[in-house]
Amino acid sequence: MYMSTDEVRNAFLQFFESKGHQIVESSSLVPHNDPTLLFTNAGMNQFKDCFLGLEKRAYTRATSSQRCLRAGGKHNDLENVGFTARHHTFFEMLGNFSFGDYFKQDAIAFAWEFLTEILKLPKDRLLVTVYETDDEAFNIWNQQIGVPADRIVRIGDKKGGKPYESDNFWQMGDTGPCGPCTEIFYDHGEHIWGGRPGTPEEDGDRFIEIWNNVFMQFNRHADGTMEPLPKPSVDTGMGIERISAIMQGVHSNYEIDVFQTLIKAAAEVISVEDLSNQSLRVIADHIRSCSFLIVDGVMPSNEGRGYVLRRIIRRAVRHGNKLGAKGTFFFKLVGVLADVMGSAGEELKRQQALVEKVLRIEEENFGRTLERGMAILNDALDASADKTLDGETVFKLYDTYGFPADLTNDVARERGFIIDEAGFEQAMEVQRQRARDAGQFGTDYNEAIKVDSATEFCGYTSTSALGTVDAMFVESRQVESLSAGDKAVLVLDETPFYAESGGQCGDSGQICTDSGIFVVEDTQKLGNAIAHYGWMKEGVLASKDKVEALVDKGRRNAISLNHSATHLLHAALRKVLGEHVTQKGSLVKADNLRFDFSHLEAMTADEIKQVERLVNDHVRLNHDVETDIMDIESAKSKGAMALFGEKYDDQVRVLSMGDFSTELCGGIHVSSTGDIGLFKITSESGIAAGIRRIEAVTGDAALDVIEAQHQQYEEKLAESAQKTKALEKEIQKLKDKMAAAESANIMGQVKEVNGVKVLVAKLEGADSKNLRTMVDDIKNQLGSGVVLLANVNQDKIGLIAGVTKDLVGDVKAGELVKMVAEQIGGKGGGRPDMAQAGGTDVTALPTAIDSVQPWLEERL
Ligand code: ALA
Repeated sequence: MYMSTDEVRNAFLQFFESKGHQIVESSSLVPHNDPTLLFTNAGMNQFKDCFLGLEKRAYTRATSSQRCLRAGGKHNDLENVGFTARHHTFFEMLGNFSFGDYFKQDAIAFAWEFLTEILKLPKDRLLVTVYETDDEAFNIWNQQIGVPADRIVRIGDKKGGKPYESDNFWQMGDTGPCGPCTEIFYDHGEHIWGGRPGTPEEDGDRFIEIWNNVFMQFNRHADGTMEPLPKPSVDTGMGIERISAIMQGVHSNYEIDVFQTLIKAAAEVISVEDLSNQSLRVIADHIRSCSFLIVDGVMPSNEGRGYVLRRIIRRAVRHGNKLGAKGTFFFKLVGVLADVMGSAGEELKRQQALVEKVLRIEEENFGRTLERGMAILNDALDASADKTLDGETVFKLYDTYGFPADLTNDVARERGFIIDEAGFEQAMEVQRQRARDAGQFGTDYNEAIKVDSATEFCGYTSTSALGTVDAMFVESRQVESLSAGDKAVLVLDETPFYAESGGQCGDSGQICTDSGIFVVEDTQKLGNAIAHYGWMKEGVLASKDKVEALVDKGRRNAISLNHSATHLLHAALRKVLGEHVTQKGSLVKADNLRFDFSHLEAMTADEIKQVERLVNDHVRLNHDVETDIMDIESAKSKGAMALFGEKYDDQVRVLSMGDFSTELCGGIHVSSTGDIGLFKITSESGIAAGIRRIEAVTGDAALDVIEAQHQQYEEKLAESAQKTKALEKEIQKLKDKMAAAESANIMGQVKEVNGVKVLVAKLEGADSKNLRTMVDDIKNQLGSGVVLLANVNQDKIGLIAGVTKDLVGDVKAGELVKMVAEQIGGKGGGRPDMAQAGGTDVTALPTAIDSVQPWLEERL
């Protein structure tokens, strides 16, 4: 019976739904609120607290198809990818879960029914393993299900390993829920090499483990102790790719529909003929992990999760290069992947443009050093006499050419070399520390403190409350009393202090008794408890003391303004820029807010203005801010914006502001949007490929910003007015100088008419305001004489005449300009010693000027 991967997924979920299981959506690849995990590595991760009894849900049976990543951390398959038929960095895990509901009996019966009756797998192809001492599981298989004893293999702890280090004892990580398990294997047939589980040939591909059923019984602590869980539970996991291979009659996962489509697409973009090439498999595997990591908010970087992503991308690019890829190719597979993932690819479709851009840029950047690095690597391999690549070269490739060590190792391995890891480690002092930091999730300050109690949060409605000290810690040690100066962490039974979450920072304030004051600088979650971080300012405090907890109201108020404004901003961005905008991060503090979102281009000044206006419109509309508690499905159908892959409880808090914004949110908000007062964006910038960041302020802080800007403008304005004044003065001085020079210049044109000095001159574009000065100047210089200046400014002619006092009896300046003006289409007249006129007929000017001399001859 052939089934597509999509059909297998649906059949599984439906089967378990019919057995009373709630279908739960896959959670993000980035585990939320779980510092012990680098990546989601199993379907049970999102239910960890249900197993531990810390979280109660409306159901005790669940089923999911969980996207998982096993590259880095406890479960790491990166190095196996491409070399076996069944290992992937990214895969989907089908699972059914019981939280203190059914146990071994039903778990085994469900698994068998699904495999043999729904999928109709032949029973004689199936083989099972149980933990060595688990007689109960052995008997269920043998006596109730009817699997012959010779097809049930007992697997114990690994020789020389620690207790419980066994293929049949499953542990999520170094800490967390764990227990013995029973695994179901499928025999692909004699023609494939490999042996039964427990034999030396077990790593071959003949017997493939398809389904792991874990009987969750313990919580493993960091020191290795195994604390029994409140109730025995069940956690199962079946890799969808492995079971699909069986349903599609193929042996290797890489032959199933999803991978064949990806392999063909990769072959096409790289132009390769041979579809069986191993590098194509690696690329097909890696495009899945890389795309979904980016969808879940991971960006390539040099540390932690981002570095794992970068390593996988570079590995894929190197394999493409090996196949002869010209230019970028990897990012071109994103669209194909989104299509082929069926119901699991919907969010990838929405974020396709972003994912492509991030991958393309990474690919381009690495492409620049890849060829050079490969040449150096190949030379070094050629030169090596002992089939070992020295650590120095591995380091140099890492440091200068961006070759992660596993990539170098990959190439070396292909050529039958090993790398000198010790030498590399030595050379990598600093980077090793960084890598260790990245791997050391889970040993930070918070993790070291273990609080069993839970704190009641009453801060939605008040900023003060009476409570009792449940526990106190100094440097992660529990203490019974504190005295002045102690730095400590305080846990109360009830508190109004909001613990940092959902991007909103923790509250600060004071916790007081008659005998002492504890200053709270920050508030954080510790499991189900709320922890107040701070120090004893005065007096003493003892465990079980009754205290008054007082949140700093002013700061809290400023935070709530910013949080509510963040919701309006999110909605406004989606309106102005489009629905592709999704939240990629948010930080709400008292001073300002920061919001990161997916968008490919920088926002234009106009878009920023529109967003700012829209937010302020909704501030003035003064929507009531309403909160409702409802189940997640109702919230979604109400259109609440939920972060993709975010873990939400079944009962969620829905926060709405009119029709404009509806979001799932546990944070603190204003009671109506008008309280925000004013919203002002202070910056818009890019923080990674396709991710923009807006910083903004609200209320008083927004006014402060505007006032500060206003003051700045005023200062600038005054400054530039002063400058203009100084420049004008300077220009006037220069003009005067130029006029003086001009008049000196035209003095050369003085003639004599009947013994009288006469100056008739034509000027081009002189400042009309200067003409009087010029004429006075000329008169002074002549002592006795007649002046006529004709100043041409484009199509306007300005005439000015001057006659020294001693001659006004013979010649009148007013008559002279009148005579000339009439010839050039103008009129004019004036005093006998100084007169001005205008005209417009520039072509008539020369004749008019020529007429001055005969006119004067008659009069002088
Ligand atoms: N959590 C179990 C596994 O990952 C089912 O194998």
